[in-house]
Amino acid sequence: HPTPADALVVFGVTGDLAHKMIFPALYALVKQGTLAVPIVGVAAPQWPLEQLREYAKDSIQQSGQIDDPQALDTLLSVLRYVGGDYNDPETFETLRKTLGEACRPTHYLAIPPSLFATVIKGLSEAGLSDGARVVIEKPFGRDLASALELNRIALSAFPEHSIFRIDHYLGKEAIMNILYFRFANSFLEPIWNRNYVKSVQITLSENFGVKGRGGFYESAGCLRDVIQNHLFQIIALLAMEAPAFQGYSAVHNEKAKVFQAMRPLQAADIVRGQYIGYRQEQGVAEDSDVETFCALRLFIDSWRWEGVPWYVRAGKCLAATAAEVLVELKPPPQKLFDDSAPISGLSNYLRFRLSPNSAVALAARVKHPGKEFIGDLRELFLLEELAGAESPYERLLGDALAGDGALFTREDSVEAAWAVVDPVLTAHDPVHPYEPGSWGPKQADTLLGTGESWHNPVATA
Ligand code: BG6
Repeated sequence: HPTPADALVVFGVTGDLAHKMIFPALYALVKQGTLAVPIVGVAAPQWPLEQLREYAKDSIQQSGQIDDPQALDTLLSVLRYVGGDYNDPETFETLRKTLGEACRPTHYLAIPPSLFATVIKGLSEAGLSDGARVVIEKPFGRDLASALELNRIALSAFPEHSIFRIDHYLGKEAIMNILYFRFANSFLEPIWNRNYVKSVQITLSENFGVKGRGGFYESAGCLRDVIQNHLFQIIALLAMEAPAFQGYSAVHNEKAKVFQAMRPLQAADIVRGQYIGYRQEQGVAEDSDVETFCALRLFIDSWRWEGVPWYVRAGKCLAATAAEVLVELKPPPQKLFDDSAPISGLSNYLRFRLSPNSAVALAARVKHPGKEFIGDLRELFLLEELAGAESPYERLLGDALAGDGALFTREDSVEAAWAVVDPVLTAHDPVHPYEPGSWGPKQADTLLGTGESWHNPVATA
């Protein structure tokens, strides 16, 4: 069992991520009673501690109600602040003094990726990486080469088991349920392979644009922003073999194999789109060809999945905000009834609803009453209530402090995932414009096989 951290250090504590995600998560952890260590914020501005406290309070207020004033007081009372330049060794000296007796801090790098290396070096030179853990925010690299370099830098100061790479999708209940549902049930295994599965579709759609993050988005694009990380993690959980033993390194081993078996993408496997109006967003170039929509056809060259297409789609300004997986099974071998598939387009399928709600649905055909053998496709629907579930950041921060790396990504997986998308990252393929509120450019249909269509998740289901 890992030893829990005895302090939390948040680099970039005056920033956006801290305001939006970290303080509300810390407040929730204090409320739960699982956080009782000093929290040292570090950032460039010379703020008095009182200003940081106000900032934290404002963040928690904006994220919802302050329903536990005592927890808020506790959180504010354990806050410390170190203002200084990350290039200045003095900043790290002050941090050491502020940490006092604490010798197993968790350092959370909530800072732009361009500063990761500087801070890791500063920590390591000040001896503050010894016995410590580091939490690294996304994006973890922007291509294979930069991810390799970042791993090299991180591993020069911390052992792999002390490096916690965040992908907040792994902290979502509905996504943890994919792993659970697959391996806690026995009925899936016989059909969960190339013999029965016709295709898998994964959609992450958002009905809003870049929300003022144009500058950041220009350096990322949809493929880097949500596909190489969030959607690939979902694929790994759907496609992996059963872990060989209990414990998280077994899950990590199997996930890594999935990324290693993914066929590197080629130009013909990807369609990019850009919503009309994106170029007018703040921080976006007038002639930007950054994609805000991306559709992929992907193959996993493994014994289980050979030949099964994985259709993956994500985008901003689409018709609905939802995330869904649809695993479509092959139709029955003979067509015995006039109305059976492919009339409705779909045969049996399993649908994992991942957001905004969590559900699993199994679709099967059922006969209508009457003389004719005619029926239709109905869903057996298991809805999972998420009320009371921890938010992903609360869960992941709590795990990082406790030293539990199950829901973080491992070096080999991150690198293998980048290797899949690397060949198309710098390709100059066309970026097709699409209307906001649509399902993206119609060119995405060209990725599908004959008779196939995209499954568009509905807003509430
Ligand atoms: C982030 C991306 O990682 O994930 C955003 O940078 C995206 O562009 C977000 O909107 C989606 O996360 P969630 O949890 O809202 O589905």
